[in-house]
Amino acid sequence: MTYQGLIHRYGHLLDLPAHTQNISLLEGNTPLIPMPRLSAEFGCELSIKFEGLNPTGSFKDRGMTAAISEAVGRGAQTVICASTGNTAASAAAYAARAGLRAIVLIPEGKVAAGKLAGAIAYGAEVIQIQGSFDDALTLVVEITQKTPIALVNSINPYRVEGQKTSAFEICDVMGFAPDWLCLPVGNAGNITAYWAGFKQYEKGLPRILGVQAAGAAPLVLGHPVEKPETIATAIRIGKPARGEQALEAAEQSNGRIIAVTDAEILEAQRILASEGVWVEPASAAGLAGLRAESARGTFDARGKKIVVVCTGHGLKDPSVITDLFSSPKIIPANYEALLSVIGA
Ligand code: F0G
Repeated sequence: MTYQGLIHRYGHLLDLPAHTQNISLLEGNTPLIPMPRLSAEFGCELSIKFEGLNPTGSFKDRGMTAAISEAVGRGAQTVICASTGNTAASAAAYAARAGLRAIVLIPEGKVAAGKLAGAIAYGAEVIQIQGSFDDALTLVVEITQKTPIALVNSINPYRVEGQKTSAFEICDVMGFAPDWLCLPVGNAGNITAYWAGFKQYEKGLPRILGVQAAGAAPLVLGHPVEKPETIATAIRIGKPARGEQALEAAEQSNGRIIAVTDAEILEAQRILASEGVWVEPASAAGLAGLRAESARGTFDARGKKIVVVCTGHGLKDPSVITDLFSSPKIIPANYEALLSVIGA
């Protein structure tokens, strides 16, 4: 049968109310891409769960199909979220699909171009906040407590329900859970969802390596970060809404949450792209964490099955590449010039 989206495929395993009306863009079913060179380097079987191949280019679509489907079923007219960008684009797309009004609050000047453009293209009302993601989240929580507007951040339990499906897919493809799952951690909805998904699916439990950016690492520092800063703007978050659950997932899985520098993130992004998988900076944090741990000798990858979750597509944040790396050479449009520049 042709693929009909996540609620169709896994809805019976998700705790969604009876009023839920399926709104889908055929999200999910993303590939688990084997990475032969990285596997050889670490002596393991390493695969990328490439969530950048979802309809709006990030894993958020898994949670959004569930949250919007529930909101529509209960008669919501308007949805709202705070976002570092990907949630905004995803909420905008699913709201558009359902015919709902979408309002998205983003931190001023800190959202990557591909995400902002997506939110606008799908027709959301985009509002920039003179503050951080955390300030925006506080505002949307307050307004959804006082008005009928529906909240679609991952505080909404249906977001987490939808995002569990990635754990199910990994087990379905591999036949069992991997030994380790490495992923970025921002507001901590996704790590919470993976852990819940693996526990529910009963195909074994991975150890979880959650990775924050060093300038936005409240779960590593043990306290909120007032002014989070990182090139990985998707995870530029100082007060994760599901921080406690993230720490629980790390501890219960016998894993941990660590921090990596922006330089380590960019290096991991480059390495992934050099093997054909271009992801946005935050999405490279999982691999950056694995590399940092291996270099310190605190992570023995040898013989293990490792899944690294890459949460968003590289196209989301093109300026990270165009600003930091030199732009292509310019030559006259003639054969001699081409020959001299390529040195053939
Ligand atoms: N990777 C990407 C590409 C993200 O956009 C996010 C979160 C994360 C990782 C972290 O996931 O928050 O569940 O721990 N982006 C949110 C947003 C905050 O607004 O798009 P998390």
